[in-house]
Amino acid sequence: MAHVIDGNEVGVRIQNELSASVERLSDSGVTPGLATVLMSDDGASETYVSMKQRACEQIGIEGYHYEIGPDEPADELFDRIGELNEDPSVHGILVQMPVPDHVDEQRVLRRIDPLKDVDGFHPENVGRLVAGDPRYKPCTPHGVQRLLAAADADPAGKDVVVVGRSNIVGKPLANLLVQKADGGNATVTVCHSRTDDIAAKTLEADIVVAAAGVPELIDAEMITDGTTVIDVGVNRVDADNEKGYELAGDVDFEDVEEKAEAITPVPGGVGPMTIAMLLYNTVKAASLQEGVAIELPGQ
Ligand code: GUN
Repeated sequence: MAHVIDGNEVGVRIQNELSASVERLSDSGVTPGLATVLMSDDGASETYVSMKQRACEQIGIEGYHYEIGPDEPADELFDRIGELNEDPSVHGILVQMPVPDHVDEQRVLRRIDPLKDVDGFHPENVGRLVAGDPRYKPCTPHGVQRLLAAADADPAGKDVVVVGRSNIVGKPLANLLVQKADGGNATVTVCHSRTDDIAAKTLEADIVVAAAGVPELIDAEMITDGTTVIDVGVNRVDADNEKGYELAGDVDFEDVEEKAEAITPVPGGVGPMTIAMLLYNTVKAASLQEGVAIELPGQ
């Protein structure tokens, strides 16, 4: 049976360490501030944003939350971002994705001041990551990297298969894992919806990261005995319960657990790490913008 990697435990540890960093900023008169903006009535997005706000509160980050109706003009969002760029109490700005179809996502990402871009999605921050000089590592990929470290699964020299090529997870994660840096040095293959034979790739992998957004895409037939499997998927699938849905990862947990070396559950795996690394980036953003040098967990 696989070792189950506990993302809640690792996430809480990082949050506790960040609390100490927030206290040191506070000694210098700085309170980190994170603004979240939601332009959607999607239930999952609402849940994610409120979890992010609650986590801020727990470690002493000041949270600011704004909602814009999904049918409002795009300028409502662009104007709000402009105001937040100018607000000195806000060090981090997060616009929850996806935004409605009539809003140009790339324009949203470019509008956020790159120093306040705690998602790491602005082209300047994407460029810095690819060039090997990251300012803000995107939260979910950074969380995956920290989980691998916590599970003693150093990717250096290993064959890693990332299934999924999104701008939020797959592409930045592949970039992090190939870096000549701690937590990197892997040989990385990125699979996606047009990959001919995904199983042929995952069967050769030491580490598989599933981030395709397809429920239970990865089963035991697709991996070998020693594989570490990280499940980034959070899919709502229909269920006969009060909510009418349940969460399913991109990995068939019961099946793969029998064979893998280590595996993350859904929920309780990557999710808590995404939030912990958002807090990390917000604390870093406050430190950079206020010119107060502090130590951050794991540096
Ligand atoms: N939607 C899904 N994941 C994310 C994320 O990490 N950041 C933002 N802003 N939106 C998301």
